[in-house]
Amino acid sequence: MNMDMFTDAQRMEKVVRLCKRRGFIFQSSEIYGGLNGVWDYGPLGVELKRNLKNYWWRVMVHERDDVVGLDGSILTHPAVLKASGHVEGFSDPMVECDVCRRRYRSDQIPLTTPFRTLVDLIVSDREGKAHVDSITVGGDSRRDVHDKAKIQSKYLHPDWKLDSIHLEPGHADDPVRSCPHCGGELSDARPFNLMFKTRVGPVDARWSGPSILPVSATGTIGPAAPPPSVMLAGVATMGSKDTPLSDDDDAAVAYLRPETAQSIFVQFKNILEVARKKLPFGIAQIGKAFRNEINPRNFTFRSREFEQMELEYFCRPEDGMELLEYWKEERLKFYENIGISRANLHVLDVPDEERAFYSEGTYDIEYDFPFGRQELEGVAYRTNYDLSQHQKASGKSLEYFDEQTKERFIPHVVEPSAGVDRTVLAMICEAYAEDQAPNDKGEMESRIVLRFHPRMAPIKCAVFPLLKNKEPLVAKAKEIITLLRPHMTVFYDERGAIGRRYRRQDEIGTPFGVTVDFETLGEREPAMRDTVTLRHRDSMKQERVAIKELANILTSRIR
Ligand code: GAP
Repeated sequence: MNMDMFTDAQRMEKVVRLCKRRGFIFQSSEIYGGLNGVWDYGPLGVELKRNLKNYWWRVMVHERDDVVGLDGSILTHPAVLKASGHVEGFSDPMVECDVCRRRYRSDQIPLTTPFRTLVDLIVSDREGKAHVDSITVGGDSRRDVHDKAKIQSKYLHPDWKLDSIHLEPGHADDPVRSCPHCGGELSDARPFNLMFKTRVGPVDARWSGPSILPVSATGTIGPAAPPPSVMLAGVATMGSKDTPLSDDDDAAVAYLRPETAQSIFVQFKNILEVARKKLPFGIAQIGKAFRNEINPRNFTFRSREFEQMELEYFCRPEDGMELLEYWKEERLKFYENIGISRANLHVLDVPDEERAFYSEGTYDIEYDFPFGRQELEGVAYRTNYDLSQHQKASGKSLEYFDEQTKERFIPHVVEPSAGVDRTVLAMICEAYAEDQAPNDKGEMESRIVLRFHPRMAPIKCAVFPLLKNKEPLVAKAKEIITLLRPHMTVFYDERGAIGRRYRRQDEIGTPFGVTVDFETLGEREPAMRDTVTLRHRDSMKQERVAIKELANILTSRIR
């Protein structure tokens, strides 16, 4: 079945339904009505996500000798995010509906917002007497508010006839944003900071005690603190007797990180010292990030809690633009290697006026989701902005010393920053297909299939004994499971007709199916002993292979 025959909304609905039905993605706290913009990954989703992250780490860290890893904390010191500009400027423009009080990101309200304007009309009644009146009329376009026929049918009693309309210069053609929910008027946009703020330590306003408690390097807080030499980890500022801690006490504030990048910048010097790398080199990180999105939407696409895979690749200033091109190409290859076709990927060269002010070049790698072309990853040349800011704010040198040239300077950075959840969603959208497959009687039926790249598939191989009540078949199938399990994720299934078992695996994207039959037992043809049928998900072709070859054949295809 050609997926083009479905509308984009239908395709998206099918994807969302499949994700829930087969245990890829669930709404968080669903039994309590759900938490908006937050998702849980079920048994298959977690495998898919893990395969993606492991492959990213393999390609970006293990297969290179110029990149090392970091696993930074989620709770972030406010000074870090002040220096990076997030406290002041990490906001989206928010508008609120005057009527239903719903809130939106103003740049997400379509530009084709209805026009509304006050018009003066001359209408004549049944007796032909003329009247002058003023009404507010609206429409999808400027033309609509001049359209006499539309105004007549939409606003006027049939007994009244519209003679002429007049738009006063003072209030003509005033486009207003309308609430997508109720059509109400929206307020002017105001900045809304997207960071989640939290409090650190026992922060009860009624508490009073010593103002500062030492924190040991092992994390213990309290009066029985270790000697000063190990009290290096910091201080917990708790308010004092005279100034009990209030909810707004900045000293106890921390943020959930809005991007993983900042911990890389603030650990730059430590990592430089221990990793002993020369420029250019990178620091990679995969981890959670949090943004209080005004309007989470499109399933997991815009979430409030999500994961990022980020690389900060430090370089000399003169190499920045070239490395930007290099990383764009590397990242495009990555997406193709996880099964996303090049035809559905697009590179947007972000124009000057839309780039962060410190960036000298940014590419967005976009994917054709069923809900439109949207960003998967940003590849940005961030200059030396972040390190300079942290050097200035912390007073600690974040310079690099070049042994050869004897120069000391703040490195520049190119950052490929990808979203785990968006990539998982893109992989599912890309893989989803409906086609025809024969059932056990050889009749064609429609099937849902997820055509994941084998390297990404949550389960690599399913093993089926032809009959569940034939002990030697079951024993052999379980032997094969034991043989394959150290190399890949496997699934054993003995329930139902074999065609139905294939179908269940197709729907979750398992690329290979192994069937143990009577030939495997050598009952019919001794030469076939210890061979099995290997079935391929996409072509549905079957081949006969020796059990001892299975692990080799499959591992070469899933790596
Ligand atoms: N350090 C740079 C940075 O964070 P970004 O463009 O804001 O840049 C990078 O985010 C990537 O993180 C995006 O391309 C996207 O894949 C993912 N991302 C950002 N906000 C997200 C959200 N609310 N939900 C899911 N993924 C998100």
